[in-house]
Amino acid sequence: MILSPSLLAADLADSAAELSALEGAGIQWLHLDIMDGVFAPNITFGPPFLRALRSRSSLFFDVHLMIGEPARYLEDFCKAGADMLVVHIEADIHVRRTLAEIRALGMKCGVAVNPGTDIGFLRWLAHDLDMLLLMSVNPGFSGQSFLPEVYDKLRFARALLEEAGAGDVPVQVDGGVCPENAGALANAGADILVSGSAFFGHRPYGARLSAFMRAAEVSPPRRAGEVARSWRGCGQM
Ligand code: DX5
Ligand code: ZN
Repeated sequence: MILSPSLLAADLADSAAELSALEGAGIQWLHLDIMDGVFAPNITFGPPFLRALRSRSSLFFDVHLMIGEPARYLEDFCKAGADMLVVHIEADIHVRRTLAEIRALGMKCGVAVNPGTDIGFLRWLAHDLDMLLLMSVNPGFSGQSFLPEVYDKLRFARALLEEAGAGDVPVQVDGGVCPENAGALANAGADILVSGSAFFGHRPYGARLSAFMRAAEVSPPRRAGEVARSWRGCGQM
C-alpha cells in the first residue's frame, strides 16, 4: 500500500517544513488537490505553488485536478513539477485524448470519479490510464465523512479492470480515509490511500504512516500496488 498525504490538510503556511517532515518520515507520495471554484466548491492553489514545492521536494507529486476542462493546463502542471495528473471523468468530454496528452508529456495519468458517477467507462478506457481514483467524499474539502458505498465500487472497479486485462492498474481512494477504514479499503482493492485530516495533525508522521501501513497490509501484496511503487515522473529532480 502507498499512503499519499493530502497537503490540503497540512500547515500550508509552513509547507517547506511539512515537506521535510514527510520525507524524514519515509513518505514517498504527496497528493495535491487543485480546485478552481467551479468544478469543486473551493479554490486551492495552482502551478506556481506547485513549482515552489517542487524546488524543495523530491516526493512523487500526485496531482488531483478538480478543475473544469483540465486539458487546458496539462503543460503548466508538468512544467511546475507534477509526476502524475489525475483528471475527473465528469470534467472532460475528451478524456481519452487528455490521458494520451498527459502520457506524451512524460507523466503518469489517472481518472478520478465522483461518488455518484458510474465506472462502466473502465470497459473502454482501462488501457488508457495508469491509475483510477475513486472519491469517497464529494470533492471540495478535507475532513468530510467517508462514504461507505465506495467499498462496492472498489470491488466492481477491480473486477472491471481484471475483465479488461488491466488488473495491474492501481486504484486510489480519496476522502475520509483513516487507519480505521484502511484495512477494509485495502481488502476491497485499494492500492493507494489518500489521507488529509487523519494524517496531518497526527505527529510524529513516521508513527502515523506505520499505523496506516499496518492497517492496510494485504498478503500477498497486490501487483497493482507494486506497479505504482516503481513510478518516477517528469517532475523528479
Ligand atoms: C477532497 C480532496 C481530498 C481531501 C482529503 O476534495 O480531493 O484529497 O483533501 O482529505 P480528508 O482525508 O481529510 O478527507
Ligand atoms: Zn484529492
